[in-house]
Parts: sequence; structure tokens; C-alpha cells
Amino acid sequence: AHRPLIAPSILSADFARLGEEIHAVAGAGDTRADWVHVDVMDNHFVPNLTLGLPVVQSLLKSTDIPLDCHLMIEDPDRWAIGYAEAGAYNVTVHVEAAADPVMLAKNLRAAGAKAGLSIKPGTPLEDHVETLKHYDTLLVMSVEPGFGGQSFIPDVLEKVRTARRLVDTGHLKLVVEIDGGINADTIEQAAEAGVDCFVAGSAVYGAEDPGKAVAALRERAAR
Ligand code: DX5
Ligand code: ZN
Repeated sequence: AHRPLIAPSILSADFARLGEEIHAVAGAGDTRADWVHVDVMDNHFVPNLTLGLPVVQSLLKSTDIPLDCHLMIEDPDRWAIGYAEAGAYNVTVHVEAAADPVMLAKNLRAAGAKAGLSIKPGTPLEDHVETLKHYDTLLVMSVEPGFGGQSFIPDVLEKVRTARRLVDTGHLKLVVEIDGGINADTIEQAAEAGVDCFVAGSAVYGAEDPGKAVAALRERAAR
């Protein structure tokens, strides 16, 4: 029973006030986010466009909370390293987009970041277990990537259970992270399946008090 990690996604924040929005989850104690999740989209890997390296560089200067950068982009083999070099804590790429995910993980780690691998809801975990030996985090998508505010897909919990088993038996050493549709109603089943870190966008930034939402989610995830 570890303390659950909560990573608010600023995809659901006000993009004109990103610094203040991060500040809202950077308080003390239970209301403090463990990581801040930053969704980078290129309008090619997913049908949406958000922000990129210049914005991340500015966010890194404005907060001391570790940034968890989720790159929903094509050709991460070329672009991901910049986020690591800039100082992101964790840089996650999609296995569906990476040409050489093992080399990519080595490069991210050499640049001082944790290496993350994400899998879409329809992508099986089994095919990528060897690759995951080179990674620090596994981001299981529980919605189709691209947009906030979608409904949680419970089928992906089977992949979480498999990943949990591989970690608990010592075959992999990973933080198991889930992303999409996490809220007060869905977080408990994700926690039960073995998630370590919970990304939540609309459930945090749609709340009256984002800090209180972080505390409430962590409380419900405690297992
Ligand atoms: C979706 C993004 C998520 C998104 C989650 O493609 O990767 O991080 O912000 O938003 P919610 O928590 O609202 O489903
Ligand atoms: Zn994300």
C-alpha cells in the first residue's frame, strides 16, 4: 500500500493562465499534486493540437512540481529528447508512434529524465513487455488519446492487472500510470487493479477547488 500519486492534467486548465492553474495544485500537504501532466499533441498522431516545447520550458521555470510530459505526437524518436533536456521529470512516448522505443528510452534516461511508454486502449501489453524493461513508467490509456472529458474504458484494467503482476513479481520495474476518464467514481477500480499514478484532467480542473479535488482523489485511491 503505497501513497497514490495524483497527476492533474492541464489539458483541462485555462491555457491563458497556465502558471496560476498549476499554482492551484501546488499547495501544501494533501492538496499538492505529485506530478503535473502535460499533454503534447501534434494534430497528426491525434486529431488535436495543444502545446509544445516552448510552453513546457516556461512551465518548468514557473513550478517545482515534476512535469509528466505525455507526447501524443508522431516521430517521438526525434522530438522527445528536447523535453528531457529541458528538465521534464518524466517523458512519455507512444509505443504506436516510436520507431525504436528502446533507443528512445536510453536517450531519455541519458538526458536525465524518466522514460515513459504509453499504450492506447486497443494496443496489447503483451507485445511490449521486453521493451518495457527499458522504461520507468507505463501510461495505460483508458480513453482514446486526443481529448479530455471522455468516459473511462474499463476493459483496459486487464492490462493494468497484467502490468501490476509483472512489477510485483520483479519482471518489470515500472510506475503504472493511468490516463483518461479518472474521477471520484472510476479511481477506485483503477486503484484496485494496481495503478500507482492517476492522471486526472476534468476531475481536477473542472472542480471548484482543484487542490481539494487532488486531495479527494488521492483519498479514494488509497488502497
Ligand atoms: C487525453 C489526455 C489526458 C486528458 C485526460 O488524450 O492524454 O491526459 O487530459 O482528461 P480527463 O481526465 O478529463 O479524461
Ligand atoms: Zn495525457
